Amino acid sequence: MKKARLVTELFLYISFFKIETMFKKVLKYAISSLFAVMVIIQFIARPEKVAEPIDPSKDMLAVLSVTGEMNTLFQTACYDCHSNQPEYPWYSNIAPLSWWIDDHMEHGKEELNFSEWGSYSKKRRDHKLEEIVEETEAGKMPLPSYRRVH
Ligand code: HEC
Repeated sequence: MKKARLVTELFLYISFFKIETMFKKVLKYAISSLFAVMVIIQFIARPEKVAEPIDPSKDMLAVLSVTGEMNTLFQTACYDCHSNQPEYPWYSNIAPLSWWIDDHMEHGKEELNFSEWGSYSKKRRDHKLEEIVEETEAGKMPLPSYRRVH
């Protein structure tokens, strides 16, 4: 009776030990694979940085003569995605984060580019101004993910 118990315990002990080593191996393998993948993706599909010539006479803040606090607010809260003069934080260079951020910047600029304001029609400007008020009031802009890190 006692012997049987001892054998069972020994068996359990060995099984656990085996599972533990196996688990450690898998974990080690998973971590090194993840690391390798992270390194590889840094070299594929690097998003291009925005480097378009800036025409100050077309800039929304200049066209509408927005100054002071309001000017700073737009520049710091909106210009990273809605202008040709974004500021790139260090983590914007790291894939896959860079892909996600680039997507926001590209998409945001497509919808509304403060640096191109001067070339918008009057109708488009009026519409965009309405949208700006709506989106900001509704808390949709700046994007919540952006607000969390700024
Ligand atoms: C992190 C990037 C980011 C920031 C910062 C940001 N936006 Fe946007 N914005 C977007 C993206 C992406 C879209 C398009 C998709 C959407 O509406 O969610 C957009 C769309 C908009 C639209 C809608 C345009 C239309 O005609 O439908 C308005 C208006 C807008 N943003 C205003 C602002 C304002 C004002 C700020 C600053 C207070 C701001 N955004 C900051 C990314 C951003």
